[in-house]
Amino acid sequence: MKIKKNNLLSIDKYIEEALYNKKFGYYMTKDPFGKKGDFITAPNISILFSEMIAIWVISFWENLKCPKEFNLIELGAGNGEMMKILIKTFNQFPKFKKACNINILEKSNFLKKLQKENIKDKKIKWLKNLNDLNTLPCIFIANEFFDALPIKQFIKKKNKWYERHVKFTEHKKPKYVDVLFNMKKFEKEIQLKISYKQRFIEYSSLTMNYFEKITKKIKFNNGGILIIDYGYLDKKFKNTIQAVSKHKYKNVLSNFSKSDITYNLSFYLIEQIVKKFGLFNSITTNQKKFLIKLGIFQRAEILTKNMPFTKKADIYFRIKKLVDENAMGDLFKVMLVTNKNNKFQLGF
Ligand SMILES: C[S@@+](CC[C@H](N)C(=O)[O-])C[C@H]1O[C@@H](n2cnc3c(N)ncnc32)[C@H](O)[C@@H]1O
Repeated sequence: MKIKKNNLLSIDKYIEEALYNKKFGYYMTKDPFGKKGDFITAPNISILFSEMIAIWVISFWENLKCPKEFNLIELGAGNGEMMKILIKTFNQFPKFKKACNINILEKSNFLKKLQKENIKDKKIKWLKNLNDLNTLPCIFIANEFFDALPIKQFIKKKNKWYERHVKFTEHKKPKYVDVLFNMKKFEKEIQLKISYKQRFIEYSSLTMNYFEKITKKIKFNNGGILIIDYGYLDKKFKNTIQAVSKHKYKNVLSNFSKSDITYNLSFYLIEQIVKKFGLFNSITTNQKKFLIKLGIFQRAEILTKNMPFTKKADIYFRIKKLVDENAMGDLFKVMLVTNKNNKFQLGF
């Protein structure tokens, strides 16, 4: 789609174009990760993060009674850093590695190419979509995946609901415009009452679609999904949409397609979505507790035993970023969704 003067786009369409337009979309044309990029994600901060996820996945597989074959699916693999370390760790557990069909679901062809360069393992399959998956048990992992999906925003003014749009005015300069919205009809369509006791809503249709498919797989094939993302637990929605470029917050409406646009997940909403699709167990904690319970400090101790001080300090400095409550430790939540009868709680 070409942006023209007087174009009016709902915010999710605006984000879709800004991030995923095949020609100029942010994620379709550049490598945004790391110091030289725009932001940094946990797997790019420390390999110990991915090692903890690897140990968690292996333990969950054991909890599922070590199926001889199962699917591991990473949703949105970025530059492939997490999967690279997962596989490196899996290689030390041959029985597990043999059983594991490794899959990545990635929308960006540009990032897919980066992933293929970064992860050299013949076992990986890049899925076209989740319907490609067979009937084996599925373990999904999603680190900073859902926050990258387009969202809608709704605002209640004088008892009426409006959907926020972006209008491109003269010189294609964008501004916000609120358009009257039939919330009742929408809630009927999505079969979920999202507006109860709210004055503001952030909602992603794509997240709903993914959960429909994922919960179906968990229900019929067994398995679960581990979600790690920044978000909050409160029932009341917050206005969290933000743009990030060169490690700084930017105006969402400026630098169209040149900055990342993300938001903080409402984990309460995710719980409601999961409930809508059946009887599941969902538990949530924060990243700090999750990584500490999985033994990130014990692993660091072993790893740094014979290291010179500066290297050791660097490793602990990186872990601090992941677990400190003033950095990522509490901002990031971890959620596990499994079948109702599954009582696996490692890390929670
Ligand atoms: C914020 S990045 C996180 C990358 C990685 N998980 C990490 O932690 O470094 C979001 C990733 O999700 C991918 N993505 C976004 N929407 C997607 C979709 N609908 N299907 C598959 N991948 C998607 C992006 O291209 C990108 O690789």
